[in-house]
Order: sequence, then C-alpha cells, then structure tokens
Amino acid sequence: MCGIIGYIGNEQALPILIEGLKKLEYRGYDSAGVAVHNGLHININKAKGRLAVLEERVEGNHLIGTLGIGHTRWATHGEPSDINSHPHTNQSEDIAVVHNGIIENYMKIKSWLQREGYVFVSDTDTEVVAHLINYYYKGNLVEAVRNTLERIEGSYALAVIAKGHPECMVVARKDSPLVIGLGEGENFIASDIPAILKYTRKVYFLDDKEIALISRDRVNIINQYGEKVKKEVFEVTWDVEAAEKGGYQHFMLKEIHEQPKALRDTLTSRIKVGRIELDDINITRSQLEKAGKIVIVACGTAYHAGIVGKYVIEKLVRIPVEVEIASEFRYKDPLINENNIIIVISQSGETADTLAAMRMCKTIGAKIVAITNVVGSTLSREADHVLYTWAGPEIAVASTKAYITQLLCLSMMALDFADKMGKISREEYRQMIEEMQRLPQLAQNLLDNKEIIQRCADETFNANSIFYIGRGLDYAVALEGSLKLKEISYIHSEAYAAGELKHGTIALIEEGTPIVALATQKNLFEKTLSNIKEVKARGAFVIAVAIEGDTVIEKEVDRVIFIPSTHNMLAPILMVIPLQLYAYYVAVAKGCDVDKPRNLAKSVTVE
Ligand code: AGP
Repeated sequence: MCGIIGYIGNEQALPILIEGLKKLEYRGYDSAGVAVHNGLHININKAKGRLAVLEERVEGNHLIGTLGIGHTRWATHGEPSDINSHPHTNQSEDIAVVHNGIIENYMKIKSWLQREGYVFVSDTDTEVVAHLINYYYKGNLVEAVRNTLERIEGSYALAVIAKGHPECMVVARKDSPLVIGLGEGENFIASDIPAILKYTRKVYFLDDKEIALISRDRVNIINQYGEKVKKEVFEVTWDVEAAEKGGYQHFMLKEIHEQPKALRDTLTSRIKVGRIELDDINITRSQLEKAGKIVIVACGTAYHAGIVGKYVIEKLVRIPVEVEIASEFRYKDPLINENNIIIVISQSGETADTLAAMRMCKTIGAKIVAITNVVGSTLSREADHVLYTWAGPEIAVASTKAYITQLLCLSMMALDFADKMGKISREEYRQMIEEMQRLPQLAQNLLDNKEIIQRCADETFNANSIFYIGRGLDYAVALEGSLKLKEISYIHSEAYAAGELKHGTIALIEEGTPIVALATQKNLFEKTLSNIKEVKARGAFVIAVAIEGDTVIEKEVDRVIFIPSTHNMLAPILMVIPLQLYAYYVAVAKGCDVDKPRNLAKSVTVE
C-alpha cells in the first residue's frame, strides 16, 4: 500500500505535496518522492527512507511550479532505494508517474519494451507504466494513459504529469483508492482524504477503470470506454485524525477490515491458471526430501501463525514440523542441520529475537525461508528465500491482517510443497486453490455481520478471566485469540487444548466464567462438544465459533458466532476474524487504548 498525492492550481505545489505526504505516511514509509512541473519541464527529487529525508533534500530547493505529484512508498517490487522510489519516468524524463498498487504482468511488458529498445533503471513494476505511456503518447495524454491501462493487469491508483502538458494531470484507478479534491482554481488528488482535507472537503471518489483529466478549474472523468462520467460531489464531514483511519475509530479496526483486500493482494499473481507459483521461493523436491524436518521460528502472533502452519504442513506435506519461540530457540543448542528448512515469520522483519534465531540457523547452513510484510526489512535481506505478505503497513500494535496473510502464505507454501512431493491429488490441489480464492469474499461476509460479536463483548467485558478452548487447528487459533484479548483489553486470558481441561485447568471454571470455544474442525467436533459440555456443567458462559449450518452446537452453548464453510486447513484464516473483533470490542468497552496498548511496541527490536 502506498500513498499518492497531486496538485494543480496557483500555489507552489511542493509544500502542498509534502504536507499531503505527511498525512499519507501511515500508508507506507520506506521511501518518498515528488515531481514538480515548472511550466517548461519536470523536476524530480526522491529518496529512500522516511519522508523527513526527502523533506530535508528539497528544503530551499528550486522545485518551483504549480503542478506536481508525490508518493510515499510501501515497497512490493524492488527494495527501498533512491532509484526504486517514485515518481518513475520515461527515459527523457518528460513523463512522470506515481503509483499505488501491483502491476501483475509487469515482467512481460518490461521484456517487450526492452526488446523495443526501452532502457529501465529500477526494479519496480511501476516503471513499465511510464515507458508504456511514452510508447503510446502521440500528443494526447489521456489517450496514452488509456491505451496503457488496457495493457496492464493488476491494481493501480496512478497520477501522471507530462512535460508537454503544464496545464493538467491525468489520474486513473483500479482496485486502489483515489480521491479528487475540488478547490477554487485548484484541484487535488490523493490516495486518501487526510492528504487534502486541509484544502477542501469537496471530493469525487474515482471508481474502477475511470480516468480523470484534471486542470486548475476543470475535472473531466471518462470510463474505460471513453464515455464521459458525471460524478456526485461528496462532502467530507470527518476530521483529519478520523480520516487517517478511513473513518474507523482505530487503526486496528481499519486493519481488521482491510483483511479481505490483504488476502486478495497476497494471493494475487501467485495463483496462475489454477496453479500456485511462489516465484519468490524455489525450494526443490530434493531439498524437501532431504530436509528431515521443517522448523518454524517466530515470536508472538507470528509464532501463533507458525503453530497453524505446523498443522497444515504436517497434514499436507507429511514432513515433521517443529515450531519454536525465537527467544527460547536462540539459546538452546538446537538439533538442526544444513538440510533442514527453517521458516522464519515476522511482520516487521526486525524483531531482535527472531533475527538472532535466524542468524544462528544460517551459521549452521540451514535454508532460511522468510515470511514477512516489509520489503527490504533485515529479515528479507538476510533470508535465502522470501515470501511477502502483501498486507500493507500494519500500524496498530495488535497484529491482525499480517497474521491472516501469514496463514495464507503458509497454506500456499504447504500446498506447493505437497504438490512437489506428490503428496496431494490433483483434485484436492484444485479444490484448495479454489477455496483460497474464495477467502477474501468469505472474510468480507464475516465483517458484514458483526452484531453477534459486539453483543458477546458487551456481555463479557467485565470478566476477570476469559478462556479459549479448541482442538487441533481450533486450539492453534485459540492461542492467537487469547493473545489479542490480553494485549489490548488487559483481561487475564489463557488458551487451552480442550482435551487438557480435565487434567487441571477446569478447576478454574466457575459460574459465569466466559469461555470462547472454537469448534470448526469437523473431524474433532464431537470431542470438542463434550469438552464444551464439561465446562457448561461447571457454569461457564460459552461463546462458540462454529461452521455455518451447524445446528447441534446452538443447543449446547450460550452464543454462537458462525463462520462460512471452507477447507478445513483454511478455516483458521476465517475463524480468527471474529476473535480479533471480539478482543477489539471488549477493549473498546473497557476504554483501553486499542492502537497503543500499555507496555507494548509495534516492533520489538530489542531483546
Ligand atoms: C501481535 O499482536 C503482537 N503485537 C506481537 O506479538 C508481535 O506479533 C510480535 O512482537 C512479533 O512481531 P513481528 O511479527 O514483527 O516479528
């Protein structure tokens, strides 16, 4: 996820671009850049690092002009660097482009353009857009952009300026957001409302495949067929702070709701013609046959993702998997060798214990496969193979969309390994891919039905302790649900393997103790049901998470939160969403600081 901004009017563009980018930094902050048209040509300044680095570089600079575009980056293709920063241009730098999204077929277009003699300077997908516009440009900028968009596949919010057009900018979008701010003798564009709210509350929301030609006093919008589009002006009533959260009360709630898109982006370009293609990692069949075991190393929520990964990989690939807490693993003399495959999971890619554990494995010669959300992070640079979660920046301390995309990456990896090892039938392979592709919509359906979860939170937020129980994958996700609750509501909570209750912990259950019982695993349902009856008999208030259509469980518990039916191995990706929302609503009911819980930090870069 990146942030783009654009201005055309009678004021100097640079300060407006910089101010706007500051409001968009939450969308990405590994590099930033601006392009300003001075009436004769385009001047560009861009730099790796936070926006402050760019701000310092342009201080007192002569980026003069009243037309400009800017960008703050969350790298997906091409690690953070000056040259990979946006804006990108064609060779003669008379066309400049900023882009938020992923051009899935950029490699094919890049090779074709290179054969046509175009010279590329960056590793990004976006650079192909600048050259393609140049290829189609015959004097009409809108037409050149339209022809370009017909060639590219993927998601985009684009802003384009051109040397020969000092009086306008062209913008377009598909799957990535873009708003047009309407001023008096000036107009703005941005990825999100906060960037322009200081100047205007009147906006157009551009819709997919629409293109806008924007001058100081006109906005002409066309659809993909070139037909004029009439837009309603939307009056923004939010304040700036609320707008940064997209109208949500907290970043955590916003990020929970970004999960369908995060799943879609993480899947995008990795499933081609019904097959999984993990270009980013190339673990071979013989490496898998020689591996002996797979070791997953992580901390916190990422560790919980690893526990789910263990179940899925062992079930599909039939290779033993050990899951290790990085801060423990790094201090024990681990039984690993150079044939083992080490999967290291870290949203930030900077967690000190996780990095130390990874480096220890590297010295032994084991192969390191990283799953991380930050391109160019230390982990991504030191691992042998990297599978990125494309969840976009995760601002809230409590991890949600990173966890869910970590699970998706582990499932894709397990399916790919199982296929390589010949452990899965073509039919099950096809079915699992089909189910993966349904997940974004199923997640959205869950998010559209939150009332029961809010009710459960209202009924239990005063509890002293809340327990989570489950078996198999249900237990693995119970661990994550319990952590979510603890870290943002400060309520004591534990997750127990449901079969373990009778070995001691059931002594904790008394009249009214809230218990969240996960019962989605078909093969374990009867056993989990008997554990639910055990705690009900001791007076527990049981909130079950079950599969839609399960009529048995309703009679046995106090509340049921249903999740849509999906492949057993993929159920964790859906069942965690109600647990995230439940923890969120409990914390809000308790008046906690949801985005910045006490004692915690987003990335634990200290030991
Ligand atoms: C998750 O909600 C927590 N904030 C925390 O456990 C986090 O998952 C852990 O610190 C690991 O961070 P990482 O994924 O960036 O390595």
